[in-house]
Amino acid sequence: MSKYKVLVVGMGKRGMHHATSFNANPKFQVVGICDIDQKRLDDAAPKLGNPEKSLDAAALAKAVKPDVFCFCTLPNLRTPMIKAAVDSGAKLIAFEKPVTLTSAELFIVRDQIRHAGVKVVVSHQHRYGKHYQKVKEIVASGALGRVHTVYGSATGWMTHMLSHLIDYTCWFNDYTPATWAMAQAAGRAKLTDNHPSPDYIAGFVQFANGVRGIYECGAGAPDQPEVAKWWGKNRIGAQGTEGFVEVLTNGGWRAVTKSGGYQSGEGAMNYDADMPPYIQEMADWLDNDRNPHQCNFEHACLGAEIMLALQRSAIEGGQIVLPLANGVDEQTLLKSKLADRPVLVSCEQNKKEFGLA
Ligand SMILES: NC(=O)c1ccc[n+]([C@@H]2O[C@H](COP(=O)([O-])OP(=O)(O)OC[C@H]3O[C@@H](n4cnc5c(N)ncnc54)[C@H](O)[C@@H]3O)[C@@H](O)[C@H]2O)c1
Repeated sequence: MSKYKVLVVGMGKRGMHHATSFNANPKFQVVGICDIDQKRLDDAAPKLGNPEKSLDAAALAKAVKPDVFCFCTLPNLRTPMIKAAVDSGAKLIAFEKPVTLTSAELFIVRDQIRHAGVKVVVSHQHRYGKHYQKVKEIVASGALGRVHTVYGSATGWMTHMLSHLIDYTCWFNDYTPATWAMAQAAGRAKLTDNHPSPDYIAGFVQFANGVRGIYECGAGAPDQPEVAKWWGKNRIGAQGTEGFVEVLTNGGWRAVTKSGGYQSGEGAMNYDADMPPYIQEMADWLDNDRNPHQCNFEHACLGAEIMLALQRSAIEGGQIVLPLANGVDEQTLLKSKLADRPVLVSCEQNKKEFGLA
């Protein structure tokens, strides 16, 4: 059996997770790796079977002609990587959340991808955790009655976490598109982070099936005292006429339903467990067009538009119609519009994480 050839760009934390997981799957072989940091590249190569190495992703892609072009660079780098991937003739592009930092860039990469007709996957892989799977199973079983609300909160800041929160709630809501969003944002400390974000953003979303989405990300979002790991203090759930169910990223799941009473179970986000099924679905999609990956680009775009609409509402005020009609640079606009006042936090630990302690 010939293997799908994989190029992985960015040998940081997530690039290494991806590259090792591709090599662990019999359907894939990493044939090329790239980083602008020579030491990272040299350190990674022997762990990955000594594939071709380069400091230049586009040149390496032309040389190795990968079936899969995977990039795990920071969120500021999307358009040139997608161009390099499309130009190389790759059949599938896999990249990290968030889809883009701005709607202007979202529109550009979406056009590139749709025009090329290439398969694309975005890494919202927490969903493979057994606790996330259980929550989805309960929502889909109908045990909540009529689902009227989905919600997600995280103390981690927006560009790290909001994409995850929105994507999993959209999954619970069967990727029904949203029709509008409205939000407020506060705090400038993380605007210059490598995951640039307001320190706190909170807002509401109307989905086309009448379901309400409620999201909070950053310093003002509530603590989840049951969870010790700060990045795992994420609570994502659904409420219906006959019950509720929610997952804590590092604290299991819990539900109360009319038919089942109180139920709960364990689970904590674990890259080693979540990456293999995420990678396997890429093989399944490459093997058969009729098996699209759950984390496909069109799903990710629905969430990306919501995330950008929330930011635009925080900038402009009022409700923002979805889908978005035009692209703007939300990052620059946030920098010019956010009030110069320190964010107010929900708990002591957030003071430290947001540089206020
Ligand atoms: N899905 C998840 O659970 C999850 C978790 C953590 C991070 N992420 C996302 O993964 C992405 C990467 O995060 P990370 O923590 O691995 O970052 P990182 O800083 O550890 O790694 C990024 C790597 O990209 C390299 N790089 C930068 N510019 C490059 C270029 N032009 N060509 C080649 N390499 C280049 C850097 O040198 C670095 O080694 C981010 O978008 C982040 O939001 C996702």
